[in-house]
Amino acid sequence: SSRRLYTNGMVKIWPPGCTLFTEYKNHVERVRQLEVRPDDVWIITYPKCGTTWTQEMTWLLLNNLDFNTAKNIRLIERSPFMEFACFVSRDEKVTSIDDTLTQTQNLESPRCIKSHLPKQLLPKQLWTVKPKIIYVTREPKDVAASYYHHHRLLYGYTGSWEQFVNAFTGSYEFWKIRNEENVLITSFEEMKKNLPAVIKSVAKFLDRTLSPEQLEQLCDHLSFDSMKNNPAVTMESEMALFDNSHLGGKVQPFIRKGQVGGWKSEFTPELAQKIDKWTADNLKGKDYLHQH
Ligand code: A3P
Repeated sequence: SSRRLYTNGMVKIWPPGCTLFTEYKNHVERVRQLEVRPDDVWIITYPKCGTTWTQEMTWLLLNNLDFNTAKNIRLIERSPFMEFACFVSRDEKVTSIDDTLTQTQNLESPRCIKSHLPKQLLPKQLWTVKPKIIYVTREPKDVAASYYHHHRLLYGYTGSWEQFVNAFTGSYEFWKIRNEENVLITSFEEMKKNLPAVIKSVAKFLDRTLSPEQLEQLCDHLSFDSMKNNPAVTMESEMALFDNSHLGGKVQPFIRKGQVGGWKSEFTPELAQKIDKWTADNLKGKDYLHQH
């Protein structure tokens, strides 16, 4: 059977500016009150910035490079997408894990938790318990391109590029807390440029050490080709559940192109300028560009 997610409309949630799926309002408080553990590691990102890539890296670093378990148990089971259940209307059963909040609560420590929520909607205890947080950024035009395909693939989006770019938003909230001891910011571009260096810095952040052989093994495991062909991370069975009739019935891969600058083959110069302007407006008064 095929189905679409998020057919249940949108709702504005406090604080103003957060528009989420209607079902989410039934879970806001449960998410805000979720118990956070000091040895958790939270992977927090805007969608399409390299979350899955970072999650697989982090889970393996936290679990002594247990490649065997990583290949046999799917990433969504090892590392929950905390709020995912809130985006699925109650009568849908999309993942093998029906309630990702309960899954998160029941997981053994150390937990590696994924969230795309904006800072204001995350569990309150994140700011008092202060577990380690890894935040991943990506060039906004590549995020927009990747997210456009994601919307076509998962939510049956059939609108134009122009409409999509007009509705596109991102966030720079985590940049403000980049210097906190428990926060590490990395980027898709850094991972593409020098994956071993990013792995080393994440390992150091997590107080783990790796031998040169282990580093090489982890790099191989995290390469685009090996992740694309690894059923434990590709979410193929979930992808097959979505209504893809508008895409000719073809199941599309979640791990798609994995490029830096891939937007160039998709955007008109006008659309690229629009996103660049959005980025510049959002970065006004921040020192982000000077440091990257
Ligand atoms: P593209 O759509 O540009 O290909 P997220 O996990 O946050 O949803 O991010 C998905 C993006 O990360 C996709 O980008 C996907 O292809 C890319 N990606 C996932 N694993 C990767 C890897 N090992 N190497 C490079 N890119 C990867």
